[in-house]
Amino acid sequence: MNATKARARRGASIGRADARRSGPMVGVAAAPGDKSISHRALILGALAKGETRISGLLEADDVLRSAAAMRELGAEIERDRGPDGTVWRVEGATWTAPERPLYLGNSGTGVRLIMGAAAGAHVAASFDGDVSLRARPMGRILEPLRMMGVEAADREGRLPVTMDVCEDLKAINVKLATPSAQVKSAILLAALGADGVTRVHEPELCRDHTERMLAAFGASLSMTPDGEGGRFIEIAGGQGLRACHVAVPGDPSSAAFPLAAALITEGSVVTLKGVLINPLRIGFYETLKEMGADITFENEREENGEPVADIRARYSLLHGVEVPAARAPSMIDEYPILAIVAAHAHGETMMRGLGELRVKESDRIACVEAGLAAIGGDVASGPDWLRVRGKGPGTKGGLKGGALIKTHHDHRIAMSFLVAGLASEKTVEIDDASMIATSFPEFFDLMMSLGGDLGPV
Ligand code: S3P
Repeated sequence: MNATKARARRGASIGRADARRSGPMVGVAAAPGDKSISHRALILGALAKGETRISGLLEADDVLRSAAAMRELGAEIERDRGPDGTVWRVEGATWTAPERPLYLGNSGTGVRLIMGAAAGAHVAASFDGDVSLRARPMGRILEPLRMMGVEAADREGRLPVTMDVCEDLKAINVKLATPSAQVKSAILLAALGADGVTRVHEPELCRDHTERMLAAFGASLSMTPDGEGGRFIEIAGGQGLRACHVAVPGDPSSAAFPLAAALITEGSVVTLKGVLINPLRIGFYETLKEMGADITFENEREENGEPVADIRARYSLLHGVEVPAARAPSMIDEYPILAIVAAHAHGETMMRGLGELRVKESDRIACVEAGLAAIGGDVASGPDWLRVRGKGPGTKGGLKGGALIKTHHDHRIAMSFLVAGLASEKTVEIDDASMIATSFPEFFDLMMSLGGDLGPV
């Protein structure tokens, strides 16, 4: 093992990291498990009767925090390494109030879904997280839960939050104010324990893994188009869940990093196997195709109720595009890496409808703008938009690099700027790589195995 690899293996404790001009990036790799589906599998498994077996679970910090929270609430969870790979076994339980606050680290999905599920399971619980999670809005979850009858104390709509038990939880009829799968999911999970039928109106469709997985765990729910591109979801309270087997597909949001690296480093061709291609998750790939990317979905198949493919990307000469605001929910986590790709395209890429990026793990509009400007990108932003003017690929027109990027506790900012470094004139350094472990612990190993010159410094 070389020194860089050895450092990378020290994993979460690493601080600064850098990436240097690389290429070609070549190879085939398995995408890490989907984060959204991994959280949901643990939570639904912990609520269900019987033993749920999960294969392909993403063993990243965010998901492991959810697993720990499920244990605190009463579920039994074991990790088994069998001949066919690792299987997580979750024995569901009637949830009981945890003895200490549930600490979800950096995970917005974990904390928000578990708040809803705890309300539905009629347990009192306190919730907390790291400095980034403490800055993120929780009012969007507490508001519908309060409509259902939950009493909760918060810190001006932020963590820490303490929720009381609500024995007579009421079903609600609610229209989502923001297109957020986390809010939608929290309401649906709470609705499982409510009296009556809860109806959620989702005017803009966002990822539907909770709906799909609730059905797989035996719940009955209905989805009806609203005639204007959105839909109504109805779910009756008082339904129990039945354990099942979940095979977690690869995460299209994580696969985005090596595939983007292939698109912008000369001579590259990279395939990521077994990636989820749920239509509500692949806006990034649609946008890349519109930019002229040579990107193909191969071996398309259905696994466990979700569509999956092997995605192959080749180095491409790209051009700028206008990314419609309506596409934002289907690529909400991919804008930072899209901005890096756009800096290598000819012409302007305009991204609109990005208001939600301001309240992710960091203010992603501000981080991307500051970072790209520091490495020579032509970038501008507004309250909910980002514009990148690319000068085309190669040393002459591409990014200059040669700067230290602030990542603000944000894994996707960290990975995006490391990818930028792979195609910049000079090294790009990031101030903190530790957060990468929240979603993609094998990031350095996987990128190095494809030929990327990057690692902790
Ligand atoms: C997620 C939903 C999205 C996304 C997050 C995961 C989920 O957040 O950004 O990384 O698993 O439901 P919002 O629902 O708040 O947009």
